[in-house]
Amino acid sequence: MKLFRGRIFTPTGDPFDSPEAFLHLEDGMIAVEGGKITAIGEADQFRDLEAEKFNLDRRYLMVPGFVDLHLHAPQLDMIGSYGGHLLEWLERYTFPHEAKFSDPAHASRLARRFFDEMYRHGTLTALIFSTIHSEATDILFSEAERRRFRAILGKTMMDRNAPAALLEDPEESYAESRRLAEKWSRGHSRIGYAITPRFAPTSTPRLLELAGRLREEFPEAWVHTHISESLAEIAWVSTLFPDARGYLDVYDRYGLIGAKTVLAHAVHLTDAQMDVLAEREARIAHCPTSNLFLGSGLFPMAPMLERGIRVGLGTDIGAGTTLSMFTVMADAYKVQQVRGHVLSPLHLWYLATLGGARALGLEQVTGSLQKGKDADFLILDLEATPLLAARSSAAVTTEELLAALIFLGDDRTIAECRVEGDRLWVRENRPAGSPFALQPASADSQEVSP
Ligand code: GUN
Ligand code: ZN
Repeated sequence: MKLFRGRIFTPTGDPFDSPEAFLHLEDGMIAVEGGKITAIGEADQFRDLEAEKFNLDRRYLMVPGFVDLHLHAPQLDMIGSYGGHLLEWLERYTFPHEAKFSDPAHASRLARRFFDEMYRHGTLTALIFSTIHSEATDILFSEAERRRFRAILGKTMMDRNAPAALLEDPEESYAESRRLAEKWSRGHSRIGYAITPRFAPTSTPRLLELAGRLREEFPEAWVHTHISESLAEIAWVSTLFPDARGYLDVYDRYGLIGAKTVLAHAVHLTDAQMDVLAEREARIAHCPTSNLFLGSGLFPMAPMLERGIRVGLGTDIGAGTTLSMFTVMADAYKVQQVRGHVLSPLHLWYLATLGGARALGLEQVTGSLQKGKDADFLILDLEATPLLAARSSAAVTTEELLAALIFLGDDRTIAECRVEGDRLWVRENRPAGSPFALQPASADSQEVSP
């Protein structure tokens, strides 16, 4: 058993339903055995336990790892490709960039750098787009598993309205997706498969039909796609699918909308479409940083939450301009401010952690620091910058402390990442290594080492 002692913050439920659904301990303890949290509470209660003891100074805070509910790994190196709205941005920058992933050596280099960046930013769970390339996708899966990153991903499926290098025969797209799903959708503890038709405009009806077949064949897999991100996209979909009753129906008629479906964006849905989403229990990845960058629109969060639709947050790089969930929380706050809906820091932190885990149906294993879940947590450095130090030390309430982190935090704030209690990443320029001071089991556990 390992005992981790120090300041702790974690959501424990949905603050949109119950504002008190969090735990904030000034001198807390997390007990970990076999990679799982076996207990969490005031440090006092654990005084007599024999275990390996790790102590944290007060400048640090233990929190659950972030959940990024939507991003494109292959777009890491095209962040900040400016100037166009969605459809022009895809054609001008994104498609040519993704075509490079036909080269496995390129894909391998990217995969290594991508998971470095995820850990550097404190994200321990993510729902990830790859490209159409099977080998590049397989490489991404292998790298995630090697790094013990919790990844749900899949081969992107595309068969029209893109450069030839990114188009496939729908039958082949199905066969390759199926091969990868057989390999990765079962028997890998932190890995899941997502059936990934890119979006309606790059899909023929036949491709969506075959995606629907995969849905039936792999009930444990997720479905991951985009919906109603921009008005021009929606208008185009209505000409490409003239028989459909709107964008959502394009997916729904092929059986692709259900409780294991995560739809990115959903900025411009009608009330009737939101009703259908709620009925089908589909999930939404809200990507405010991306929506602002591409000028897509302002996500209507309140009508989603009123219907009980599960929402999480995504960076959506490369249209998103950062991998930091701090910035995404800050942007979610600002977007809802403009819409007249005030989100508290507790709401935002929930959306970036437990809310994302609930959107993935993974709330039994991750998203918060609670008994029975995997011990996947971060150590935040509240003194990572002079301004953050000043702001966080002046914070009186939990909300004030979280707000300081949301609006001033970035990758420098992530001092260490722990996966199943094991140190997987520590900020490289920390002269003393891990912020944890290891305390001999015989020493007095009352004392928190500096
Ligand atoms: N819609 C279809 N593909 C994409 C993509 O790569 N990024 C974003 N933001 N929207 C999309
Ligand atoms: Zn996207």
